Amino acid sequence: SRVLRELSEKKKVVVVEHDLAIMDFLCDVVHILYGEEGVFGVVTHPKAVRHAINTYLSGYLSEENIRFSEPIEFEEHPPKPRQDLPLLVTFQRLVKMFKSFRLTVETGAIRVGEVVGVVGPNAIGKTTFVKMLAGVVEPTDGSVDAKIVVSYKPQYISIDYDGTVQEILYKTAEPLFTSNFHKTEIFDALKLKHLMEKPVSSLSGGELQTVAVASCLAKEADLYLIDEPSAYLDSKQRMLVSRTIRRVVENLGKSALVVDHDVYFIDMISDALMVFDGVPGKEGVGRGPFSLHEGMNLFLKAVDVTFRRDEETRRPRVNKPGSYMDRRQKEIGEYYYASV
Ligand SMILES: Nc1ncnc2c1ncn2[C@@H]1O[C@H](COP(=O)(O)OP(=O)(O)O)[C@@H](O)[C@H]1O
Ligand SMILES: [Mg+2]
Repeated sequence: SRVLRELSEKKKVVVVEHDLAIMDFLCDVVHILYGEEGVFGVVTHPKAVRHAINTYLSGYLSEENIRFSEPIEFEEHPPKPRQDLPLLVTFQRLVKMFKSFRLTVETGAIRVGEVVGVVGPNAIGKTTFVKMLAGVVEPTDGSVDAKIVVSYKPQYISIDYDGTVQEILYKTAEPLFTSNFHKTEIFDALKLKHLMEKPVSSLSGGELQTVAVASCLAKEADLYLIDEPSAYLDSKQRMLVSRTIRRVVENLGKSALVVDHDVYFIDMISDALMVFDGVPGKEGVGRGPFSLHEGMNLFLKAVDVTFRRDEETRRPRVNKPGSYMDRRQKEIGEYYYASV
């Protein structure tokens, strides 16, 4: 994003992007495209970035008086005092050595009823950590006291299945069809109905992702491990998926660990945060879980970006680099939602 910003001082740059935080950071004006999938599309006049994102989320173009979709509401969730929640699983300083990579995850614990977000650059060990919790990879040193059942959605989904979505979900995620809760909160919420007759092998990346998340959430487990759910999804699908994960975890009193690069997605979904850093491909260190506020502050400081809340929608907003709020928040070390 920084490279593109520099380039835009001399040239015009057009960016197509699903990550609203990136868009907020990068763009001055935004064209919204709306319409009906596979039928028609309409491009709006350019709007200032804040107004464009709010309009997009509201589903309503006030200038043109056109409703183009359902509104998507940002559900603000009050911070949960973590220390009040019972422990679900503790991991003791985990070390994993590969031939040319070393991962250390400091001792930490996941609590019952919380969603823990995981952020950090690529090739820093996030997936390896998730796999150690899932019991797929053995730590070289340290341990997970895991007498718990996990349901795991891997980062790379490869379903080698010769049948329809309905068939595979019947096999792997029966509650989607038999439990009212799962039907409403997962099947309907993720709009799976129109995918039922499709062969699994014909699904697009986004459709496959949605099916994989649904299948993961429908399984009976104590801890849901969800590695990069927003990949291949558009911004609206991301909101639906994040809301679904939160609702399921909250209503069933379970826990989830969610790795993702979309900072708005992570902000929406997480009660607590783990932050990974180090030298990608060589050495990674994972820390946390911290409270969302503390974790976000650490993470945003490392990438040198500040956030505030949008007054209208309560969604997070990236402060423009060098703006008054940006400078002020950096000065006092509040990279995340300072009330200044
Ligand atoms: N089975 C393996 N054997 C050797 N190296 C591996 C293996 N799995 C992962 N790695 C290496 O470990 C590092 C971290 O990978 P990963 O946990 O997938 O990172 P992230 O999920 O943060 O992108 C990468 O450099 C990757 O190449
Ligand atoms: Mg990964």
